[in-house]
Amino acid sequence: MKKLYIETYGCQMNVADSEVVASILRNEGYIPCADPKEADLILVNTCSIRENAELRVIARGKQLQALKRKNPELKVGFIGCMAERMNEDLFEKLKGIDLLAGPDSYRNLPELLRKSSGNLKASDVLLSTTETYEDIAPEHYQTGDITAFVSIMRGCNNFCSYCVVPYTRGRERSRPVQSILREIEQLNQQGFKEITLLGQNVNSYKIETENTEYHFPTLLETIAKKYPQLRLRFATSHPKDLSEDLVKTMAAFSNICNSIHLPVQSGSNNMLKAMNRRYTSDEYMTKIELLRKHMPNITISTDIITGFCGETEDDHQQTVEMMRKADYYYSYMFKYSQRDGTAAAKLIDDVSDEIKGRRLQEIIDLQQELSLQHNRRDIGKTFEVLVEGFSKRSSKQMFGRTEQNKVVVFDAQNIEPGSYVHVIVEACSTATLKGKLISGSQEV
Ligand code: SAH
Ligand code: SF4
Ligand code: F3S
Repeated sequence: MKKLYIETYGCQMNVADSEVVASILRNEGYIPCADPKEADLILVNTCSIRENAELRVIARGKQLQALKRKNPELKVGFIGCMAERMNEDLFEKLKGIDLLAGPDSYRNLPELLRKSSGNLKASDVLLSTTETYEDIAPEHYQTGDITAFVSIMRGCNNFCSYCVVPYTRGRERSRPVQSILREIEQLNQQGFKEITLLGQNVNSYKIETENTEYHFPTLLETIAKKYPQLRLRFATSHPKDLSEDLVKTMAAFSNICNSIHLPVQSGSNNMLKAMNRRYTSDEYMTKIELLRKHMPNITISTDIITGFCGETEDDHQQTVEMMRKADYYYSYMFKYSQRDGTAAAKLIDDVSDEIKGRRLQEIIDLQQELSLQHNRRDIGKTFEVLVEGFSKRSSKQMFGRTEQNKVVVFDAQNIEPGSYVHVIVEACSTATLKGKLISGSQEV
């Protein structure tokens, strides 16, 4: 067997894709390994979402060039969104790499490997309107053996003005229900306990079978009913498509976790319009209220872009207000980064880096405060926790997650990972809850 090392950058979709790639290449005699120095083939699964993400990959590429000079037998390939966006420019920038494959070309990797030998290079960046890798059983080698990602749709049709994803991943398409259920059945048999359904916009999942039309809530309900012992999560949801139907389905099944990632991007209507997000801040808040009405203990996280084109101090303050009103327990926050080819690349990137930095720091500080308040409110409450393993800090402590997706650490040494336990929260930091075990291991 030859050894394959895949290095994954970017979003959860990329993590899931690396598992598809590992599966395709296993059939070619490659097994995943944990050390790039041992590898016969190194693939870098890349991300183009912000300039920084690309700069990191290029820096890594330079190191791999050096590794290749030491070991001429080693093959190095760049796959994913940057391969798609930059194509041959990436060969130019990182001389000596062997192959490029875009997100819809992974079935072609064996062919590309055969074509790239000596000084020959091979690339395939064709996007597809149908590829979902539905018949490929991903090799779940990255996320441990308790939780797994299952990709249910690919691509994005939303064209938010700042975003490169519709160009690097192509049009939206949904994976057939039977193929999703087959994968979950396997995961269930292998003993996995938590599944996260993935797509750039899971709410627009849609598939037509002979006599039914499946939308996301129907898919979720089907899985929740069939596997009451599996915890279900999903990401990402676009606020404009978050339906009452979905909210009711989430509330109706106890194994669908009461936690949602609902990217707001900005609290200002001017910015939301310029970003082509297709909702107003009031419409967004109405969705939050709907979620909280049906699930009072739900946790909500978000993504925020700061310093988008034309953002004024007043726009920024509206984002600050939105964060307080929505009471996020967690946020991913970014400085706006202009991407070539997007609609926003035609606007003027007029907020200076210094102001972007200052505004970003303000919202990071605010989120720290909100997260801490959130966690403090959990003190004294009891949660069911899915145990994932030992804490990094001490072998006398274990950790797991609540349904609300918060990490809880507690004293214990002999609980089987994958068990459910009850923990009462006694203390917290901004990032973690600290609790005491109140019931032993109980398989659910
Ligand atoms: N499909 C998902 C995730 C997209 S990428 C969604 O719509 O929510 C994850 C996040 O990266 C986005 O939500 C956005 O906050 C951020 N992002 C995307 N493009 C960006 C850019 N050009 N500059 C800064 N942040 C960006
Ligand atoms: Fe990008 Fe918008 Fe699509 Fe998300 S919904 S991937 S932010 S275009
Ligand atoms: Fe990055 Fe592509 Fe995901 S640009 S965020 S890896 S879809």
